[in-house]
This record gives sequence, structure tokens and C-alpha cells, in this order.
Amino acid sequence: MINLPKWDQSLINKYNVSGPRYTSYPTALSFNEGYQQNDLIDAVKSSSTNSLSLYIHIPFCSQLCYYCGCNKVITRHQSKADLYLDYLEKEIIAQSQLFNHYQVEQLHLGGGTPTFLTAAQMARLIGLLELHFQFSPDAERGIEIDPRSLADGMLNHLRFLGFNRVSFGIQDFNDEVQLAVNRPQCADAVKSLISEARELGFNSINADMIYGLPLQTPHSFKETIEQLIALAPDRVSVFNYAHLPERFAAQRKIKDADLPSAHDKLTMFKNTLEQMNEAGYQFIGMDHFAKADNELAVAQNEQQLHRNFQGYTTHGNCDLLGLGVSSISQIGTSILQNQKELKHYYHAIDNNVGSAICKGMKLNQDDVIRADVIKQLICHFELDMQHVATKFQLDFQRYFADSLTALAPLQSDGLVKIENGIIRVTARGNLFIRIICMCFDAHLLKQINATRFSRVI
Ligand SMILES: C[S@@+](CC[C@H](N)C(=O)[O-])C[C@H]1O[C@@H](n2cnc3c(N)ncnc32)[C@H](O)[C@@H]1O
Ligand code: SF4
Repeated sequence: MINLPKWDQSLINKYNVSGPRYTSYPTALSFNEGYQQNDLIDAVKSSSTNSLSLYIHIPFCSQLCYYCGCNKVITRHQSKADLYLDYLEKEIIAQSQLFNHYQVEQLHLGGGTPTFLTAAQMARLIGLLELHFQFSPDAERGIEIDPRSLADGMLNHLRFLGFNRVSFGIQDFNDEVQLAVNRPQCADAVKSLISEARELGFNSINADMIYGLPLQTPHSFKETIEQLIALAPDRVSVFNYAHLPERFAAQRKIKDADLPSAHDKLTMFKNTLEQMNEAGYQFIGMDHFAKADNELAVAQNEQQLHRNFQGYTTHGNCDLLGLGVSSISQIGTSILQNQKELKHYYHAIDNNVGSAICKGMKLNQDDVIRADVIKQLICHFELDMQHVATKFQLDFQRYFADSLTALAPLQSDGLVKIENGIIRVTARGNLFIRIICMCFDAHLLKQINATRFSRVI
């Protein structure tokens, strides 16, 4: 496997600390209040691209999974989605006017559970988007699917509406684990949905899994991954369960005594790496795997991979517009976030002519340079220092003197090698990519006391 991490227990003991996931640099902890629609207008004016990636957040789920750390609203009332779509419509109408000169290359519906929407509600949403934005004919259209919430015929309907990618939340196949997190689901149903998706011609099928859930054991999770591999998804995310009960009330329903030990969690991840490798998947980095011929793996091998708020992507050239409650946009060098709570989102849309932007940040030149360096490292496990020096007209050794000092112990421990002007993350180091990136993070010192990051493995 390309990038196959080398397991070194002593390094894991030393470096398995908490760190940001770098879906953006600077991370969300650096966002400030006080941003608004004018900041989006300015950002669009100064952006140099005409390609757009659209993210739509649908917050509703019909049942609470106890582990969940997503921004969601639990309800069984379908009419709540009608009201939400009324507000999304206002936001779409207001914001699309700024993007007339853009082509949508990528659409992603996330949540919550986008398939909470009925077929008619989904058609309404896609109709609105197609009416107000200009889509490229071969745009990537993806959606997150909770296999339990998928109405009969919905996959077919999604295909009809132009979706060509699906991401199934599976998490774990073991019955006891599913009960412990309040998410019972039938393995056969998941299996037949994946076959159906393949028959319908969805050209990328992703599966989300989590290790570290209550009652999981290395043995049970090994079986789960075996079952998953048999379904042959194109991409797999194996997330480390982030247990933050003080932040997510639902997680307080999980008994500490039921959580696997740190040792067992590490064993689960180690086994997963081996199983995925044997099954022919490439370790993309962090928690992601892709089949060797999948475009994510190909892009990584060709140094064309990017990372944004949705994780790894091949669409790095696009500005990102997030619509809906809590959504984040990244336009040019500005990051802007919508109100996170539904009632505040509705209130803002009503009072600010269709805009719910409330937080964000404007990257300065130092942020732009460091964001580029961190993206390069996290996507490709190497950094050409001369390339950065030329691109940004700087003396790398001087500009990044503090970063190189911070990197020195990691170099001594064999996590990185510096040769011929290239910083290369080794097979020992790629599990610790977050720690390596942290050496280049100028905002981190201010945030370190907040300790709100998850452990790196
Ligand atoms: C919005 S959900 C996916 C769609 C759908 N709601 C579902 O559950 O199938 C996003 C993913 O985040 C992951 N996730 C949620 N809470 C998590 C946590 N506390 N730690 C790690 N991963 C988590 C799960 O793998 C989940 O599939
Ligand atoms: S994991 Fe998915 S379905 Fe479960 S509560 Fe979170 S967003 Fe909803």
C-alpha cells in the first residue's frame, strides 16, 4: 500500500496527543464573531476563480445516535423540513446572485441526514439549486445517506436528480455495539443498498465507520471491517470516536465503562490499516482510505489532492459556498460561517435579507502561506521548500525558523526526513501528520489551552 503507515508503539506512546484535523487552516477555533454579508460580497469580488463547490446542510435526523458530534436536530416531524426549505430558498435566492459568473463543479448534501427529506422535498431542493446556480454538466453531486432512513425508491430518485456519489453512514455492523449507540441497522439492508447504488451507476460509494464506540472490541471491529471490505466501497472513512460528553449531551448516555481501552482502540486502528492494505486500499491520510484506482488515490499520487471542510477532495480550485444552518464557506481568502442554531439561523435569514453569516475570518498573507504548506503536507506527505520559497517569494529557512525548530525532535524520532530541500513524512510519521502540521500552525499556541481537539489516532 502506498503510504502504508509503519506501526511503532514507542512513537505512538509519545506522540498520540490531541490535535486539529486541519479541514481548514486556520482552524475553526480562530473564527471570530462579527462577520456578515458584506464580508461575503467582498470575498467574492476579490476571488480569482469561477468554479464553485456547494455544500448544503440538512440538519434533521429521526433518531439520536448517542455518539453523534454533528450539528443535527432530532425530530419525526417531516413538516420541519418544509419550513427549513422555505428558509433555504430565501438563502439560495440571496446568495446565488453573487455567484452568477460561477459554474458549480461540485454539490454535496451533508447533515444531519439529508435523506430525512422526502422525495418531493429533495426534488424541490435540487430544483431550487438548478434554477439559481449554473451547474457544470459533469458536476460531482454527492449526498450523505443514513441507510436506515432511506425510503423505498429514494436511491433511484437521487440518481434521477443527478446525484452520482453516495456516502453511507455504517459505523459498525455488530448488533450489540449498534444497540449501545442507539443505532440498530440490518447488515443485509446495507448490503443490498450498496448493490443497488452500484447498479444505478453511482460512480463513487463511500462508507463511514467509527472505531472506539462502546462495546467494540478488536475482535468485533475486525469482523466489522471484514464485512465492510466484502461490500467493496470505493472510499472508506474510519473515524476515531471523539468522546466529548461535556460538549455533546447525547454522549452522556454512553457509559465510560463500555468504552474500549486506549490500548484496544489502537489495536482496532492497527488491524484496520492491515485489513485495508490487504484488500488493496490506499491510506490517503488521517482516517481515509480509497481503492487504488479511485480518483482520490490517483489525485494523491499525482500531487493533485486538496483538503477542505468536507475532507479530502479533488476540487481544490473551487470556492466553497455553504448554505443552511452552521454551514461554512471558503471564498478566496475568507472563511465565513452561518448561525449554528436553527432558531438563530431562521431569525438571521428573516432579518438580514437571506444571509445567516455570523462568524469567520479573513486570512492574512501569513495564514495563506501556512495554509498552503499544511495542505501540501496533509495531502501529499511531503513539502518542497524551494517551491514554497519561489511561490511566496520568501526565504524558507528564515520564515519558518520556528517551525523547523519544532520539527527537529520529530526528525530525530524518524517521523520526517529532510533531504534535498524536501520535507518528507516517513512511513513511521504518516500516522502523526496532524502533529507534523502543528509545527507550522501559528495560531495553535493561543488555542492549545482550549484542548478541544481529538487525539490524532
Ligand atoms: C452527518 S453523519 C453521516 C450521515 C448520516 N447522518 C448518518 O449518520 O449516516 C457524518 C459522520 O460523522 C461521523 N461521526 C459522527 N459523530 C462522530 C463522533 N463523535 N466521532 C467520530 N465520528 C463521528 C459518523 O461516521 C457519521 O457517519
Ligand atoms: S450520526 Fe448521523 S443519523 Fe446519527 S444523529 Fe448523527 S447525524 Fe444523525
